[in-house]
Amino acid sequence: MFERNVYVNRRRMLLEHMAARMPEGKRGIAVFPGNVDAAQNYRGNDYKFRQDSSFLYYWGVDEPCFAAVLDLDSGQECLYGNDVDIDDIIWMGPQPSVASKGEAVGCGRTMPLAEFDKAVSSAVSAGRPVHFLPPARYYNQMKLAELTGIPAAEVRRVAPMEADGGRHASEELVKSVVAMRLIKEQCEIEEIDKACEIGCLMHTEARRGCKPGVLEQEIVGRMEGVTLSKGWGVSFATILSQNGETLHNHSHNQIITPGRLLVVDAGAESNTHYASDFTRTYPCSGKFTTKQREIYDIVEQANSLAFSLTRPGTSYWDVHCATVRYMLEQLKALDFVRGDVDEMVSCGISGLFMPHGLGHNMGLDVHDMEDLGENYVGYGDERKRSPLLGMGNLRMARDLKPGHVISDEPGIYFIPALIEQWKREGTDKGFVNYAKLEDYYDFGGIRLEDDVLVTNDGARRLGPWRLPIKSSEIEEVMAKE
Ligand code: GLY
Ligand code: MN
Ligand code: MN
Repeated sequence: MFERNVYVNRRRMLLEHMAARMPEGKRGIAVFPGNVDAAQNYRGNDYKFRQDSSFLYYWGVDEPCFAAVLDLDSGQECLYGNDVDIDDIIWMGPQPSVASKGEAVGCGRTMPLAEFDKAVSSAVSAGRPVHFLPPARYYNQMKLAELTGIPAAEVRRVAPMEADGGRHASEELVKSVVAMRLIKEQCEIEEIDKACEIGCLMHTEARRGCKPGVLEQEIVGRMEGVTLSKGWGVSFATILSQNGETLHNHSHNQIITPGRLLVVDAGAESNTHYASDFTRTYPCSGKFTTKQREIYDIVEQANSLAFSLTRPGTSYWDVHCATVRYMLEQLKALDFVRGDVDEMVSCGISGLFMPHGLGHNMGLDVHDMEDLGENYVGYGDERKRSPLLGMGNLRMARDLKPGHVISDEPGIYFIPALIEQWKREGTDKGFVNYAKLEDYYDFGGIRLEDDVLVTNDGARRLGPWRLPIKSSEIEEVMAKE
């Protein structure tokens, strides 16, 4: 938890953001249901608790069964939660009072949780606007539906409050929260740096474990142990696979085999829940084949180019386009594609090789705030999403500003089913040399990912050091380990 004023200032700024979007006296209330425990296989055997990120951001309390209300007209605020009774003390031990938890985040008014339900219901009965964010968890979706009378399916739909009698999540609140959480404060950057340090340590463990004969699962277990010993745990389910052409491959059941490539995409959460997200790709035998190195070096140079272009005054859309343009130029030099590179960029030919975007926002969520709506977070009112594969999968396209934290993660993949589909349907418009691709059906994929802070005059890679990335560095370090 940060010091009290961080939370006080954030709530004050949120009031200002909301005031700028709505007329005085008609703003209503903003409600923040925190997360509750979620059953893993039966009630009482729960998943490790993870607080809702926006609740953490404004109210700081990292425990289940809390909620909060911010009155947008009067500025009054209240944190709701229950003090422990003797039963709780027997199972959980003594706990600080709800009042002292409120005090720690500068909220002087606290009440039992049941009063939250009453506060929301009475605002609804009085016809006051009730602003809420689209909830990530089903429990809160059901709870908000119950308290507001809005159908559960509509609770995740975001629209301006004046539309449809306000029977949906609040676009004003989403836009205000996005505007604030997108620009990281110094205390947040320090936490992301810590998460990156843990991420670097876990990736070092993975690289050392990448030896022929080892089961992928063993490496995952060792690297995830690092995150638990130094932070909260992983920031998302670890991707570690020799089938790197499957972008989010969560099976770890193969033996490390010489000649193959191992994609390791994994990150850590700091104890305050800020995320890191790195990807490296290793030659399982410790040395790249010529064929692997050719592709690897293109991706490594693309990662480096994207970083060099990342600065205020440009947009991540432009950085993405310049990066895929570079990759297509290089793929053309290797005869994978033929024709005019600018035309290929416009036609989205890069999507065959990189069906995902260059990067996403990062923060309290590894894909920051995506539950609030990817377009609100990554596009805003500045730009529209492309319908093309790859281009359209870019999650962050905004004009870059100091304080943005984003991932830089180009990749090249050879996905046989996708190649076959493009060939069958003519999606490539004649640009792709399928004969060349035939030799790459068993290649797999390569992705290289760093976490980047946009600064006043450029960008900084986050973390205390950079994981080895050049093909020569990787071979050198693997030979020593
Ligand atoms: N963790 C998936 C990604 O890199 O976005
Ligand atoms: Mn990643
Ligand atoms: Mn990522």
